Parts: sequence; structure tokens; C-alpha cells
Amino acid sequence: MNIPDLHQVSDPYVAYERAVLDYYHHFPRAPSELSSLEIRIGRDALITRLQKQLAYREYWRGKGRGLLRFGPTVERLKLIPLVLKATFLWNRGMRNALDVRVVERELCLPELPAALDGFRILHLSDLHLDFHPDFAVRLAAVVAPLQVDACMITGDFRHMTYGPHEPVLAAMEPLMQALSAPVYGILGNHDPLEILQPLEEMGITMLMNEGLHVGEGARSFFLAGVDDPHYYRAHDLGKASADAGDGFRILLSHSTEPFREARDLGYHVMLSGHTHGGQICLPAGLFRLNNARSPRHMVQGHWSAGSLQGYTSSGAGCVGVPVRFNCPAEVVIHTLRGIA
Ligand SMILES: [Fe+2]
Repeated sequence: MNIPDLHQVSDPYVAYERAVLDYYHHFPRAPSELSSLEIRIGRDALITRLQKQLAYREYWRGKGRGLLRFGPTVERLKLIPLVLKATFLWNRGMRNALDVRVVERELCLPELPAALDGFRILHLSDLHLDFHPDFAVRLAAVVAPLQVDACMITGDFRHMTYGPHEPVLAAMEPLMQALSAPVYGILGNHDPLEILQPLEEMGITMLMNEGLHVGEGARSFFLAGVDDPHYYRAHDLGKASADAGDGFRILLSHSTEPFREARDLGYHVMLSGHTHGGQICLPAGLFRLNNARSPRHMVQGHWSAGSLQGYTSSGAGCVGVPVRFNCPAEVVIHTLRGIA
């Protein structure tokens, strides 16, 4: 297959995704350059993802069709800064957005093996690291002193859903230097496939409808991660769970949307993000915007579904407008606890 040189064409990723999809139109299997990715994600999930990435990019180049020609949400978002600046709330909202708090909590799990009692997971979500030029360094300073056994990033590395991804890869460098525990991650609906390999080269174990056993002996568990279930709907829990075995299992999923499947597959913990906890909320949590196709009680914080314990992070970064109100940015340390 003749994949264009990403540095030689005016909109290289559009050309790249078109070329791959055109290849798929004529051949049943991925081109050799992508065969390992097809195995990791699954053929249908890979095609679906590439089609939607292309649709996003073409929309933003003014070539969208049908509903994709219109961006009512984005148009409305442009009004928010005007309103906030007119009411002198803009600067306060930006300060809130850059002020990331550390939330320490215990996750009580009746089926937790005794050897895993006290295992500490640093849960980062919705970094959107390039939303502000100072943010990556600030976040790195917040996480650097934290003592944990593993770090799990539940997607949305990049700020926008389109455009270049190189800025977020540069912003990841100070964060990776600050993390000393093993790092596992998944992609969110803001992340293109093209960042997968660079993130892995930085040392993140990316899970694309995949799972692996973490730790050794009694102090081990099965960790699975799925591709974005919200926009790309490229998640495949069955594939990710193929090697789960009978032990304790944790799932990373950018949004909570596949929670029923996770519960039915016997997962004990599900970590997610995507909602930003609403990001701009009324005081005392009176109203939180829910942008996931999940029950409202899953929009922020702890939830459960049968024997599945879940946590939806409010996220560390921002999207749309770089402000937060009544919804602090957070990184979360979950300490696993058995119940005696
Ligand atoms: Fe996000």
C-alpha cells in the first residue's frame, strides 16, 4: 500500500486515513503496516475508528456531509467565554481549571485477594494536556510526590478532537518524568490512533481491547483496557477479556457506557472519565451535565452496578473552554481494601 509521507502533504492525516480505508475497501485484511494494530483492536473496530477519525478531520476542513456539516455545540461554546468575561468570572474559572487537587479514597472490595489489600492506583483521566501552555508542568508537579503502585490513565490525552497531536506528545514528557510507577493507558474520544505508538515509546502500556496480568503470584490481578466506547464505539470487552482467568479484574474504559458488559463479564473495578464531572456546574452539585450514555449517578465519583465498583473521574484537564466551576480538577488515588 502506498501510505503518504505524513510530513509531505498539506493535511497528512486525512490522506493517511483515506489511504488505509481505500485499501480496506479492496482487501479483507489490513495493509502490512497496520496488521499488528488490526490484531490488537480488531478489524471492524479499526475500520470504524478510522472512518470516524476521517469524518472528524473532514468536518473541520469544511468538507463534512449531512449532520457533520453543522457544529451547534461548538458554536454555543464560543458564547461561554463572552459571557464569563462580561461577568468577570473568566479569570476565576481559569484559576480553578489549573488547580488540580489530589483525591485519596479507599475502594472497598469484598472479593479482593488479601495480598492486594493496600494496593494504590493513581487514576488520571481527561488530561487534555495541551489545553493550556502551563498545565502539563503544573500537573507533573502535583503527581511527582505521590507514592503509588500503578498509574492508570483513562483516556483523552489531547485537548481537541481534531487537529495536530504533536503538542500533546510534547506535553506528556514532563508528566512521564514525574511518574515513577508503571503506567497503563487507554485512548479516549479526543485521541487519534496515531498517538498510540508514541505513547508506548514513552513507556505507557497502552491497552487497545487488550488485557494483561499485572504483578506476580497472590499480589496480581488482570487489567484490561478498551478503546473509546463513546464516540468511536471501538470497544471490545470480549476481546480484551480473553485471558482474564478467574482472578481479580480491573477494567479501564474512557466512558462508563459499557458498564453492564463489564459487570456481566465479572469485572470487580471499572475506572473511567469522559464526563469531566460536568466541568461547569451549579453549586453543591445541584446539576451536572452528563455527556455519556450512562445513568446520571455515574457522571462523577463512585458508583456500583451489582458486584462491579466503578469510579468516574472529574478529570484533570478541561475541554471546550478552559474553565471550571464547582467541579474541581482531580487526580485520584484509589487504595484497594478488602472487607473483613
Ligand atoms: Fe475529556
